[in-house]
Amino acid sequence: VSDPPNLARPPIGAALIALNALAEGEARALDFNADAHHWSVIVVRSEGRAYAYENRCPHAGLPLDRPDGQVTVDMLGFLVCSAHLASFRLTDGAYAGGPKAPGSRGLTRVKVRVEAGMVVLA
Ligand code: FES
Repeated sequence: VSDPPNLARPPIGAALIALNALAEGEARALDFNADAHHWSVIVVRSEGRAYAYENRCPHAGLPLDRPDGQVTVDMLGFLVCSAHLASFRLTDGAYAGGPKAPGSRGLTRVKVRVEAGMVVLA
């Protein structure tokens, strides 16, 4: 079963952020709004590459970022959900620790590529 299309999600090829705007090992939440629709994505830079995930924790469906919009990456380099501290690997979103919903394997990947220094939706 797939979700209905989210009208706030930018189209394939849309630029999300410059790769160099992210520090190595940083994860950043980006929000997009269109009318009543909202789409939030976490963009990650790890070892110079870009990865992205839906900003929705598989544990209880809450946003991964903190109320101030920052995304926690712990000292071991795992992305940590702000709600109940489940953690995920930066490079594939795999579940690494903390509370887990039955059957969940990790974050929902959003396909991106780097084009002329920009992270774009693929
Ligand atoms: S919603 Fe993320 S750990 Fe519970």
